[in-house]
Formats: sequence, structure tokens, C-alpha cells
Amino acid sequence: MAQVAAERHASVETSMHEFVERTPDLRYVFFGGKGGVGKTVLAGMTALWFARQGRRTVLASTNPVHSLSGLLDQDVFGKHTPVDGVENLWAFEIDTRDAIERSKREIREKIQWFLKFAEISTKAEEFVEAATTNPAFEESAMFENMVDLMFADAYDVYVFDTAPTANARRLLGMSKVYGLWVNKMVKSREEAQTLREALSFTKKKEQDPLMEYLLSFRGRIEHARELLTDPARTAFFFVTLPEALPIAVIRRFIAWFTDFGIPVGGVVVNQVIREEDGLDAPEFVRNRIAMQREYLEQIGNDFAGMVRAILPLYDDEIRGVASLDRTAPELFA
Ligand SMILES: Nc1ncnc2c1ncn2[C@@H]1O[C@H](COP(=O)(O)OP(=O)(O)O)[C@@H](O)[C@H]1O
Ligand SMILES: [Mg+2]
Repeated sequence: MAQVAAERHASVETSMHEFVERTPDLRYVFFGGKGGVGKTVLAGMTALWFARQGRRTVLASTNPVHSLSGLLDQDVFGKHTPVDGVENLWAFEIDTRDAIERSKREIREKIQWFLKFAEISTKAEEFVEAATTNPAFEESAMFENMVDLMFADAYDVYVFDTAPTANARRLLGMSKVYGLWVNKMVKSREEAQTLREALSFTKKKEQDPLMEYLLSFRGRIEHARELLTDPARTAFFFVTLPEALPIAVIRRFIAWFTDFGIPVGGVVVNQVIREEDGLDAPEFVRNRIAMQREYLEQIGNDFAGMVRAILPLYDDEIRGVASLDRTAPELFA
């Protein structure tokens, strides 16, 4: 009886399985939500499931926390690593420090070149420091990493275990901001160049490496945006628990992502205590079940038609391939 009540409120209309079947070109899968709700675990189950379908899959993380190595019980840090015992599955925990250093070097070269080009006699270092010592720079380096991986085109499916909090949205939202910024830069460079040509006696066109860089950068960003906003290829899933805070977080995320034109694949409700486990349970457990019933109702109302799966709270943490193999079929039931 009670179980029926809970399931009526947050019900699965189009399941995860149906969703991926209806989206056969799906290649870029992301998981977002509050910290601790199960993003890493669900990304792992999803990647494993795709790999078991025979598709070359990578499970990737730009998250500085070494969560994938922990999930898989295998060191996957810093390089594409075949997952032990699973054909078609690779895991890759991107070394963000490495990426940040690389970006710093590139920016330094560009600034040095520009200062020389513009005949400004200032040390590049100050500019480099200003450009690279802020959290947005780290995020942008992580974004670049993600895009590099996507463009390398080495896999059929990419499952990203994204960072918690607002990073995920910013990582993707950044592509739009980059696009606008680069357009502005390109326009002002064009104007400067036209002026320079008009003022110079020699009519030969000057080469402008900064302009070339901006154009190629804009091309990359536009390509990334094209991929990330294409509902045939990209889906962002949001994970919540039957609790107030994680629901509030994904409600906000979904609104943001919808604004950015980033395709929302749906909602996964995780760690739901099974009603039947409450029958002979202590009062504490029965209270939790009563509480989650209310939140399941809220989820059913707020995310009508978007719930792709409702997963139980398992009696153990999910860790290792065997554990993922046991649970993935429930996500893709
Ligand atoms: N349905 C579940 N049942 C039992 N434990 C779970 C479940 N989902 C996640 N966990 C556990 O909860 C913890 C947090 O999950 P994790 O995927 O790391 O969250 P996130 O990546 O969102 O921070 C992990 O120890 C994981 O094994
Ligand atoms: Mg995680």
C-alpha cells in the first residue's frame, strides 16, 4: 500500500532506458547535483552500461577530488586507463593541476607576444598573474580539458562526472560568455587592423597571430557550444535525494541550464529507502520514510515527466565494477 503511494508521486514516465533508446546519437552525458547525492556513482553505472552495450565509452572527471579512482578501485588519474575487466570502458581523471600549468604557459606566451607586438615595454608576468590567479581561470582550464577530450573523438560515448555546486553550470555557461567575448575582441582587432592599414603607406597586409589565435579559439568555442546544446548528442542528468536541499539545488540547475539552452536529460532520484524496509523498522526509519514520501510528492510535481529513475538506498556503498554491474541494471531498468 504505502509503496504504491510513494511511487505514484514521483513516477517514471520515460525511463533512463527509454530515453537513451530514443536518443540514439547521445554521446555526451553529464551528471549534476549537490555534493554527495550520487553523481559519481551514477556516472559510473551509466558508463558501464554503455560499455556493456558494446560502445567505446570513457568515464571522465574534471573534478579535483580523486573520485573515479575510488569508485573503480583502480588508479585512473592523469591518463586514459582501461577499466579492469570491462571491455570498451576507459576511465580518465583529468589532472587539473597539469591543465592549469599548461594554460598558464600558453597565456604567458600569448601575452608576451602581444606586448612585443604592441611595443609595450612591461613585464608579461604581472599580466599573467592577473589573468591566472582566480578561480574562474581554474574552471576555464577544466573546461578546456573537457572540450579537448570531446574533440579528440576517440570514443562513442563520454560520461562526465561533473564537479558539484555551481561549477557545472559555469563550465558550460562559459562557452556562451567566451563566444561573446571573442566576438568583441575579433571586432576590435579588425578595426585596429583596418586603421593601421589605412595609415600605412605600404599596402601589404600584416600578419596578426593574435587575430589568428582568437579566430581559432572562437571556432573551438562555437564547436563546443554546438555539441553541448544539441539535444540529440548531449544530455545533462540531475541527481537528487528525496530531501529539501538537493531538490532546491537541481531545481535551480535545471532553470539555469534551460536558460543556457543546454539539454536537460532528466532527473534521477537516488537513495530512496524502500517502503517495504520500513515495515518492521525502528521509528527513526519509519520517520525517514514518511519524510521522503512528502519529498517524492514534491519531486513528482516539480519534475513531472522528467524523472528517469528512482534508485533505492543500498545497504552498502557502491564501489568497484562488480557493485556497479549489480546496480546499473536498476538505473537502466
Ligand atoms: N543508492 C545508493 N545507495 C547506497 N549508497 C549510495 C547510493 N548512491 C550513492 N551512494 C554512496 O554515497 C556516497 C556519495 O556518492 P557519490 O557518487 O560519491 O556522490 P557525489 O559524486 O554526488 O558527491 C558514496 O559513498 C556512494 O557509494
Ligand atoms: Mg562525485
